[in-house]
Amino acid sequence: MLSALERLKIRLAVSLGWAGSTDRVSEVIRGFQATEADGVWHLYRGMTAIDDPKERAIIFGHCLEEESHSDAFVRAYRSYGGRVFSPSHFERKALYPDGTPIWKTFAFVHVGEVDATERFRLLSQELPRGALKECLRGVVSDEEGHVDLTYAMLKRLGATDRAIGQEVRWVRFRRFREHWMRLGKQVIDGFANVLLSVVYFVFGVFLYGPARRRLREGFVQYDNNRLKQL
Ligand SMILES: [Fe+2]
Ligand SMILES: [Fe+2]
Repeated sequence: MLSALERLKIRLAVSLGWAGSTDRVSEVIRGFQATEADGVWHLYRGMTAIDDPKERAIIFGHCLEEESHSDAFVRAYRSYGGRVFSPSHFERKALYPDGTPIWKTFAFVHVGEVDATERFRLLSQELPRGALKECLRGVVSDEEGHVDLTYAMLKRLGATDRAIGQEVRWVRFRRFREHWMRLGKQVIDGFANVLLSVVYFVFGVFLYGPARRRLREGFVQYDNNRLKQL
């Protein structure tokens, strides 16, 4: 379930942040495409750990639908300015260490399905008419089916309602922690950028004159031995 803060963030992002900026919308779509493609990778890994051919067929069908979402986001991306799509990086990192019961991977996927359904549904309601809104409508109708599909699969894999509830809470805590760690890293990176810019401009004031004089001479002499002595 999305928190009230998360809902407010989505509403503000659409009304203030994305308004009139195709660049920002395109970047957001790239992120959605990467998440869908990453989901296919995790589902496929989960599928290879299951022996039952019927379950494997169900997961394979699920993989195809996630793949089609990834393609739908690429088409939506191209419709904003018709630019060439370059895929964003996605992690391809196993969700659990080897030896962990496979149902836990599907519990993680289940939480992703619940959150994606709510986030995409809210976005499609808030967005004005356009390619992304249409794309999200189609994706949401599939994601709603995935929520029930993954829960039913967890039960068939032998997980009890209690165990599923516990794992879902743990997954939510993990996702919350990772979100704040990413945010912390962004703040530190931003602070480092500001600091480096200040140093650059402060040194620039003092080095501007000597640099111009050197450039007027047409060539720059550099004694490599001085560096070796350091
Ligand atoms: Fe999806
Ligand atoms: Fe899904």
